[in-house]
Formats: sequence, structure tokens, C-alpha cells
Amino acid sequence: MPEACTYVVFGATGNLSMTKLMPAFYHLEKHNRLTDEVKILAIGRRDWDRDEWIETVKEAVMPKARGGITDEVCDRFCSRLDYFKMDILNAQDYLKLKEHIEANNWPNNMAFYLSLGPDQFAPAVEHLGEAKLLREDSGWRRVVLEKPFGYDAESAKQLQKRLNKYLDEEQTYRIDHYLGKGMVQNLMVFRFANLMMEPLWNRNYIDHIQITHAEDKPVGTRAGYYDTSGAMRDMIQSHLLQLLALVAMEPPASMEAEALRNEKVKLLQSVRPILKKNVHNQAYRAQYAEGSVNGEQVPAYLQEPGVDKNSVTETYAALKLYIDNWRWAGVPFYIQTGKNMPKNRTIVAIRFKHPPKQFFRDSQVKKMEPNWIVFGIQPEESIRIELTAKQPGLEIMTEQTSLDATLKGDVDTSYDAYEELLLDVIKGDRSLFLRYDEVKAAWTVVDPILQAWSSETAYIDTYPSGSWGPEGAKKLFDHPEQCWRYHYTPECA
Ligand code: BG6
Repeated sequence: MPEACTYVVFGATGNLSMTKLMPAFYHLEKHNRLTDEVKILAIGRRDWDRDEWIETVKEAVMPKARGGITDEVCDRFCSRLDYFKMDILNAQDYLKLKEHIEANNWPNNMAFYLSLGPDQFAPAVEHLGEAKLLREDSGWRRVVLEKPFGYDAESAKQLQKRLNKYLDEEQTYRIDHYLGKGMVQNLMVFRFANLMMEPLWNRNYIDHIQITHAEDKPVGTRAGYYDTSGAMRDMIQSHLLQLLALVAMEPPASMEAEALRNEKVKLLQSVRPILKKNVHNQAYRAQYAEGSVNGEQVPAYLQEPGVDKNSVTETYAALKLYIDNWRWAGVPFYIQTGKNMPKNRTIVAIRFKHPPKQFFRDSQVKKMEPNWIVFGIQPEESIRIELTAKQPGLEIMTEQTSLDATLKGDVDTSYDAYEELLLDVIKGDRSLFLRYDEVKAAWTVVDPILQAWSSETAYIDTYPSGSWGPEGAKKLFDHPEQCWRYHYTPECA
């Protein structure tokens, strides 16, 4: 059972808190994962009192709770909640916050979750520091930061410099919620708990690796943030490079936080830098035009509320990377992500080379398919291995067959990524949080592309909403036999 703690959530009335954090706390309550002494203090600008906050949480969170709610769990959960109104840019308010926590005699272990805009991280940490709320005299103090951590390598460095004044790296929990997903963790388990995979996991056997994250949703109400960010920053620099690191890193010395993060950093640092002259051969961007998603007519990105009418912000980004180390020399890694695509789908697909001699290539078979290992990260939570086998019958005719392992839990065992991560903060387990050098290495990978794109403001390619992205992204592939795989089951577009 994790320790007693006061969990202070800044930006508690915002979208992330209401859709992810409060539901995650509720589910932890339901599964008895919190000690009685865990208090959850919401910080917001609205002039609410505790009762109004509890009513808001009940209305927003309870109806959607996985597996329904019971009065008993609801009462237990609500008894932990409190609300404190303050202006996060006002230093005096932090002193009042401190008094409020002390007056209530809440636990001295404190986690501050900054569900705030990126430009508010540094002021909030500075004010917490000035108010002596980050001093670990009588209990631990931890700060959880949501992405984006900086806007590029330089701004991330400047932000880190400001945080360093008040916060040790050991107190810093940079969240990447993908690391809390069960199937993302399964990438590690599959690789390092099964001896039969490791000998194949290298340039001798693997043709290429693809990582695809598709969403069937538009930018929604987040245009203010997204239009200055774009898909490369929003998804690739963070979540998808983490998937790349987990699929390609060397076995860590242990599963301890530092050992694991050392390997991820090493991997990201081995990515071959993209030279300016190669940006157009290694990266592609596009924006959704109008179209139809799930049978509904939807507007173009440029018509979305809050988007600059001349915006060239990408809602689709694709990237080809090479990792210059012994294991992966010469193996391309393709990464793509897009909004307003036909389906929500995240897959990691590993395509193997053909056998050195293809005995079954003649008229008996239509086409020899390569072996694939496909990780369905979401919504399928599965691992699929595709192989060639003989068809039943007299002649030797081959067919593709597969071994499928479905790993989705039921309502009692399934959980949301944030549940695990919120709990890890209380436990002090940083293995699923990003270290600063990791963030820096990830920015270094994408910075040359972002720089090139930022100077090309006259044109961006488009793709119809409801399609699998722009045709132009296919040019990233090294040879004609390679193509994007959008599906957990085989299908080449
Ligand atoms: C967020 C991005 O970090 O991740 C969003 O800002 C994106 O744009 C989301 O939609 C995807 O997360 P998930 O868990 O829904 O796949």
C-alpha cells in the first residue's frame, strides 16, 4: 500500500483533470489502492468551496466510472477531496496554500501535479519553492509535470534551468502517459521475458519497424495549444519516440528507474541526426482537409474554431529514422501519426526479412508474405505473430497464418494509464517517468525537422479527413515492398 500523502492538483477544473486525473483517483479508490491518509486537494481559479467541488466531481466523474459506482466508494472518495481557490501566478497565494494544508493537518508527503499550460510550470515551481513547499524537511515533496516539456531543445533547457533552482531531478516526475499503458509496458515484457525473441531482434532479421498512431478525432477544443504545436511535437517527440525507445533499446541492467532510463537515453542518442538537406526525404507533414469520418461530414483543420486561417500546422506527421548502433545499423524505423483518420489505432509493427532462399516462390503460391510481429497498443491490446504455413491438401501451397494473444483485461483488471502513474508518484517509482536527458535527446531528434518546417510557411499538403493520411508520406519508404500498415490484421494500403 502506498504511503500517506497530500496530492495537490493544480489546474484541477481543466480538461485533463476532469477526464483523466479525477477518474483515475476514483478508480484507485474503488480498488483500495490508496491509504486512508491520502488527501486530494484541487486547486482552481473558480470561486468554489469544497461542497461545490465535490458536486462537480460527482457529476463529471461518477457517471462514467468503469464498472459503475457504489455509494460506499463514492463517500470514501469524496471524503478525501478538498478545494482551494488561488491564482497560480500570485506568490502570496502559495503561502496561504501552505497554511491551508498545515491547518488541516494533512500528510507532510506532498505531490504537486501541475496540470497547467507549459508557460506556467516554471512560475508555479518557483512560487512553490519560495513558499518552502518543496523542502523535504519533514516528508517528501514531488512535482509532476505534464507534457509538453519545452517547445524545442533550447526552451526545454531554459525551463529545466529554472526548475533546477528549486527542484532536484529525484523530485521531478515528467509524465508521458503512454508509459502507463499496459501494452506499452508489454513491449518490454515481450522482449525481455522471452528468450526466443532476442536473437531475432536486430538488423540481421528485421527489415523495418513501423509505429503508427491514428486518431479518428479532430483537434477539438484544443486549437489554442495544438495550432502552435502540431503533430510532430504533440505525439512524435513525446509518446511515439518513447515507443521507439522501448522497442529498440538494449536490455537494461535491471528494471530500476535509472537502469531503464539509461537505455532509453542511449537509444535516443543513437538516432542518426537528420541533416537539413535530408528533412524532405525523412519527414512528411500534412493537414486534414474536409471529409467524412465515421460517416459524418467534418470540416477542414483551417475551419476549426481557434485555428489561424493561414496555419501550416501539421495534423499528420511521418518520419523515417535510422539508429546508428550495432543492433540496428541500416534498419529504417517509420513513425506516423494523424488526426481525423478513419479509426483510433496505435500499433507497433515489426517486419522481418524474407528467408535467404524462397523455396515456395514459384507458381504454387500467389506471393510470399514476410513474417510480422504486431503489437496492438490500442484499442486492440494484443500481440500477433504472422507466419507462413502449408495449406491443408495434397500440394504444397502456403498460406499466412497467425498466432494471436489478446491481452485485454476485463473490467476488474483493466486500468487507465493515469492510475498507474498517479500511484507511482506516491510510491516514488520513477521508472515510468522521463528524465531530463531523455526529453533533451528526444528534442534533438525532431528539432532539425521542426526548424525546417517553421521556415516553410507558404504551403502544406492536405489529406481528406477520414483517409489514412497523405499519399506523399509513402515516399519515405526505402523500397516498393514496404508500405504503411494501419491495421492490426494484415492490410497494405
Ligand atoms: C496527448 C496529445 O498527449 O495524447 C493528444 O496531446 C492525443 O493530441 C493524445 O490525442 C493521445 O493519447 P491517447 O491515450 O488517447 O492515445
